[in-house]
Amino acid sequence: MDVYALIGNPVEHSLSPPMHEAAYDALDIDARYVTFEPPEDGGAAAIESAATLGVAGLNVTIPFKQQVIEAVDPAPLAARIGAVNTVDFSTSPPTGYNTDATGVVRSFAHHGVSLSGTAVVVGAGGAGRATAFALADEGLTVHVVNRTESKARDLATAVADTGGDAEGHGLDALPDLLPGADLLVNATSVGMEEDASPVPADALHADLAVLDAVYSPIETRLLQDAAAVGATTIDGAWMLLFQGVEAFERWTGEDAPVDEMNDALRKRL
Ligand code: ATR
Repeated sequence: MDVYALIGNPVEHSLSPPMHEAAYDALDIDARYVTFEPPEDGGAAAIESAATLGVAGLNVTIPFKQQVIEAVDPAPLAARIGAVNTVDFSTSPPTGYNTDATGVVRSFAHHGVSLSGTAVVVGAGGAGRATAFALADEGLTVHVVNRTESKARDLATAVADTGGDAEGHGLDALPDLLPGADLLVNATSVGMEEDASPVPADALHADLAVLDAVYSPIETRLLQDAAAVGATTIDGAWMLLFQGVEAFERWTGEDAPVDEMNDALRKRL
């Protein structure tokens, strides 16, 4: 039996175990997915321990995504982002991927959204960083917009320094930026357990594809506003799903049973 695991602190409420175990059931894979909660500075040590114990694959969440970089060989996108959420132990040293980033791209692709043109990414924390690098890597022009404008500018500079097309702005730039945008991602926590949106509703339009990283509630204020103007809407569960789908595929080399994983996830939201 193969053991896959998640490290995070806290990890108690993670939806990854049922999502991955649904995939093992669907494909008749003899495996289990468990969670561990190392001490807050224990990310790198946890990677070494997992390798010693023969763990087949590890997901990494807050607060360890940056810490574990030193214990793995990061794939190019993960190295540029500076964060790893998926570790593959079939190589030595283990390889670190950022499937949060590829999960964003796959969420849009799954909904038939063309990955071209201009993207507005609201938020410059961990989720915003992964999203900005991922979309720039796909060749989009990326506008990072953040409450703290200096963080948006710093992130845009980091993206541009590695060959991306990116600019940083404060939140007040949204009304000017959105008319020319094709994709919009909310990578802030605004809207989580609250009826609030980081984006003025009257700046949204029908030609936008809007992805909200927030999945609680599933229909955020932003997605309701976007649906009301006829925009394409993609909820945060898709991001969660596709980071897991991509991790599963990296570990097993098989196409993930996306529908079964999606059902298992949505049943618990
Ligand atoms: P994560 O890793 O999930 O991205 P984070 O690193 O804490 O979390 O980042 C949170 C993001 O949400 C930041 O972009 C933050 O903006 P600041 O950099 O200005 O703090 C944004 N955010 C949080 N609360 C916000 C609010 N009320 N209005 C606007 N942006 C907010």
